[in-house]
Amino acid sequence: MIDRKFQSEFGSSPDYKVFAPSRINLIGEHTDYCGGECMPFATSNGTDFFFSSNDSGTLEVYTERFKERHAFALKLSKTRRMSLDWKDYVYGVLFAISDEHKVKGGQIFVRQSIGSAGLASSASFCVGLAKTLCPELSPFDLAKRSWQAERSYVGVKCGIMDQISISLGGGLNLKAKDLSFSSVSLDNSDCQLVILDTLVPRELLSSNYNNRYEEMLEVAEAIGLTRVDSLAGVDRVPQNLRPKLKARLRHVLTECERVKRAAKAIEMREWRVLGFLMNQSHASLRDDYEVSCPELDTIVSLAQAQKGVLGARLTGGGFGGCAIALCQKNSAQSWQKVVEEAYREVFGYNPNIFEANFSQGVKLTRFSSESK
Ligand code: GLA
Repeated sequence: MIDRKFQSEFGSSPDYKVFAPSRINLIGEHTDYCGGECMPFATSNGTDFFFSSNDSGTLEVYTERFKERHAFALKLSKTRRMSLDWKDYVYGVLFAISDEHKVKGGQIFVRQSIGSAGLASSASFCVGLAKTLCPELSPFDLAKRSWQAERSYVGVKCGIMDQISISLGGGLNLKAKDLSFSSVSLDNSDCQLVILDTLVPRELLSSNYNNRYEEMLEVAEAIGLTRVDSLAGVDRVPQNLRPKLKARLRHVLTECERVKRAAKAIEMREWRVLGFLMNQSHASLRDDYEVSCPELDTIVSLAQAQKGVLGARLTGGGFGGCAIALCQKNSAQSWQKVVEEAYREVFGYNPNIFEANFSQGVKLTRFSSESK
């Protein structure tokens, strides 16, 4: 099927399409860059890239979200100044892949259906773009290079959870230190996950996300570790840290423990235990790691108070964006309106509440000449 908008933007037809999902993290927040465990699920809203290749030596990208088109020279200049917008992510990916891989020029139409913050829209963009430009990259290579694009080029000190989740798809119990993982699934359970989007915008770069990374760096140095990603292996919070840093480390250590218990709970089909751990995780992110905000705290408490909801917590980096609720299947219809109305009473607008659907990892689909 030809995307008509591609035709009208570029006057040609795409050769193939790449879909990169978004992700929600069931539990294990702000643990990945500390080398700990997390439990991301790839979800069906995501980013589509329609691509037509050519030999022009440039890459023209149109993004529907920003209604902007830009031509990127494939001969990269190391002295480029950052533009502090979506173009930096394109350059980041180009730098991350073009050392070893020859990137073809062409035209790309980007369409993103990820509503708000906290669902890894930038990782979805980077992984999808890397796949579009270098379809031959293995899932791990894709994840690592997209991670490098955000971390080294754009400058967000993120972990690799989002990129791994989006590349591999499904639900994963992931250990960020060595990237070992096992699959996790809520299929055949009588539970479902619901996304509660506060619509509070947040960019990781301009939030306090990097500040939390810097604090963890300080913790690592104070206890004689050379790397932040060794922190999850520490066995207790040392007494000589200042109180704020103690609380930060306490969050990371207790959160890693919760992920282990959550994996057990899923295996044993103890959904109430899983919900309880999610509630504890939110409290720890709010009080010890201080990455929540009034809108997230409100929507989480409202959800936790509903019949049929087993647990709720913020998901992703925090400081705005989305929460998730684990609830009994089909119970959301009975409480969604109640939460919306109570939330509107406090903040004057409705949040966006919808069911999470899971997805496979990033995927390339070629268009046959008949379908063009
Ligand atoms: C963002 C980052 C991830 C992870 C989460 C918090 O999504 O990209 O690497 O740190 O925040 O768990």
